[in-house]
Amino acid sequence: MGKKGKEIVKAKLDEVIKDLLAAYSDEWLAHYQYWLTARWIRGMDADTLKGVLEKQSADELVHAGKLAERIIQLGGQPVMNPNQLIEKAGCGYKEPPKDPADLKTVIQDVLNAEACAIEYYSKMCEKYRTTDLVTHEIFEDLLKDEVDDEEEWEKFLTKP
Ligand SMILES: [Fe+2]
Ligand SMILES: [Fe+2]
Repeated sequence: MGKKGKEIVKAKLDEVIKDLLAAYSDEWLAHYQYWLTARWIRGMDADTLKGVLEKQSADELVHAGKLAERIIQLGGQPVMNPNQLIEKAGCGYKEPPKDPADLKTVIQDVLNAEACAIEYYSKMCEKYRTTDLVTHEIFEDLLKDEVDDEEEWEKFLTKP
């Protein structure tokens, strides 16, 4: 990052990078969880859920990309070894249900993941509001997306 770009970051770089790495790990894990679940599930409403899982899985990967760019810009390294993704994640990973027809669990697991992301991003937005404007904007962007994701999944809960 350039001189002025660095100068305007008032937060501690190590801490910003650590917070970005947690988000980066969670986005990869959500991407993988949704991608795999889309292929695993079976049953009546599976096709509808599949489409949404595929789309959101792709979105989470885009999120990981934005976070990786900012990590590198700040002089950090994205998680180089996938073994460390779970270790660094804040929200973690939930395996698809053993029973591929258990769509209720699928919906609940995604909602839990999205709720955790919303909580984290909202906390991060507050934290960097005045100390790192660029990082703040990335977290804000991602927060908006996760709020949309949650809304989309909550609709499935209210379906009879
Ligand atoms: Fe995301
Ligand atoms: Fe999401």
